[in-house]
Amino acid sequence: MTTLAIIGGTGLSQLADLKIIRHETVNTPYGKPSADFVIGEIHNKSVIFLARHGNPHAIPPHKINYRANAWALKHLGVQDIIAVAAVGGITAEMIPAALAIPDQIIDYSYSREHTVFDGEDGTVTHVDFTFPYSQKLRAGLITAAATANLKVCPIGTYGCTQGPRLETAAEIARMERDGCDLVGMTGMPEAILAKELGMDYAALAVMANWGAGKTEGEITMAEIEENLHHGMANAAILLQTFIAAY
Ligand code: HPA
Repeated sequence: MTTLAIIGGTGLSQLADLKIIRHETVNTPYGKPSADFVIGEIHNKSVIFLARHGNPHAIPPHKINYRANAWALKHLGVQDIIAVAAVGGITAEMIPAALAIPDQIIDYSYSREHTVFDGEDGTVTHVDFTFPYSQKLRAGLITAAATANLKVCPIGTYGCTQGPRLETAAEIARMERDGCDLVGMTGMPEAILAKELGMDYAALAVMANWGAGKTEGEITMAEIEENLHHGMANAAILLQTFIAAY
């Protein structure tokens, strides 16, 4: 049974080495997931791939149906999720094109359908979120990075903003004071929904740019594309190595 899923973000809309077996459309109580699920194999290991922003890339971060995506992955028998995400770097190590495996989250997003325990069934459920990412999957990614001789930042706090706009310089300065190392727009509620549904979840973050105000001038889409090009190539090698050992 397939248990591993990769959620691809900006810059990773497909897995190059996936031998595709079939595509599956899943309807959920929460509506439609971002895209059909691509079910295939890498190194003879079953892998399910989902393009978080749709196929073609057209769904902005605040419009992603995170609940449908998580519900569908659970329905397909997924236990482990590696979520790849383009992010901005805030602290010194998070240089453009670097990879990071965050260990904590601060959620600044709002107005998203963020739980499957919405009380509609008359029950109140609180889920522990002390360690938002699976230690098992994080350890696997860190080992894979060492095997592939790739440098990764093995910890970091991911600040999730609402988007789709990038942040102001003052917002990034505040996030740094709060303890954020990197900033993205899709890490939440994706991580908590996986946890609520009993799946293991870890993120592989790829630095697309320095956060706002960390360099002179504005952030350009050209620099984001250029950095993602390099960073995602390394992320793909890391994923392959991880899957080979899975
Ligand atoms: N901020 C938020 N999300 C991002 C950024 C950023 O600077 N870069 C890539 N995703």
